[in-house]
Amino acid sequence: MKRISLTQHLIEEQRLHNSIPASLRLLIEVVSRACKTISHAVGKGELGEVLGSAESENVQGEVQKKLDIICNDYLLQANEWGGHLAAMASEEMETIHPIPNRYPMGEYLLLFDPLDGSSNIDVNVSIGTIFSVLKAPEGMTTPTESDFLQAGTRQVAAGYAIYGPQTVLVLTTGNGVQAFTLDREMGSWVMTMQQGTIPEETKEYAINASNARHWYPPVQRYVGELLAGKTGPRGTDVTMRWVASMVADVHRILTRGGVFMYPADAREPDKPGKLRLMYEANPMSFIVEQAGGAATDGKQRILDIQPEKLHQRVAVFLGSRSEVERVTGYHREE
Ligand code: AHG
Ligand code: MN
Ligand code: MN
Repeated sequence: MKRISLTQHLIEEQRLHNSIPASLRLLIEVVSRACKTISHAVGKGELGEVLGSAESENVQGEVQKKLDIICNDYLLQANEWGGHLAAMASEEMETIHPIPNRYPMGEYLLLFDPLDGSSNIDVNVSIGTIFSVLKAPEGMTTPTESDFLQAGTRQVAAGYAIYGPQTVLVLTTGNGVQAFTLDREMGSWVMTMQQGTIPEETKEYAINASNARHWYPPVQRYVGELLAGKTGPRGTDVTMRWVASMVADVHRILTRGGVFMYPADAREPDKPGKLRLMYEANPMSFIVEQAGGAATDGKQRILDIQPEKLHQRVAVFLGSRSEVERVTGYHREE
């Protein structure tokens, strides 16, 4: 069987859709190379002395794991010198990281969650890297935080790498979703899914149910109806999965459908959810929509949200279209 490499795919996409100029191709290849390095480090585990806590906190007050910092550094170093970027921003850094003066400045902005699913690192459960690519605004000379505050619809590319039994890179540049499996012997990304499609209907949902008592009424209603099963209003039994790595939950949904929810809740009424708009929700929403699914914050399409802060949080409902529309509808009825 003839296999297509990531490079061949990127070049052919450019010929077909004019959507991946050489500098964006370089960017995607550099990020995917860094993900290979991360996959290798993750795979070493204890032998690479990468497990455990770093005993520091990020800007969001979360305790950082050693791998959070290692992966952040890999991505920064890999992307500094190529001339494709103007600046980077990361879940693990308080402020943006402009490209140092010694390197040429490019036209793109890169945002990433270097290591998603930190609580799963030490227990050997799938984790990942999520990234989002924006164009720097016209005429920008010195990048600032406000240059990053663009709605998700402005993303020119987004993707994630999942480090599981297989390492897989999932990518969109706005013409569907493709997946590439890492051939560990060859060190190359090989296309293994040409067009991801999320089934419209599903009987599988994902939410951290330990927060149930804090949920607001629309989420209580939606999950309550699912739990009522065959004899309830939905008239069918469903099943539940929660990996606690967004990449792994989204990857399952991309593979066989489902709905993923991380709602805002009454614990901290001023906090609009746990997940981060720029590093998690936007890139995942771009991928999910390109695979035929939907993504909202309960009220509106995530990709339409105008960000106000780099580290802004957001409620997330994404996956199979019919379920996302239903739970969003329940919020709108409030
Ligand atoms: P991160 O490891 O980058 O901080 O992200 C973890 C996120 C997301 O991956 C996952 O869906 C969610 O947090 C899990 O949260 P709970 O531990 O509250 O279930
Ligand atoms: Mn994350
Ligand atoms: Mn993270």
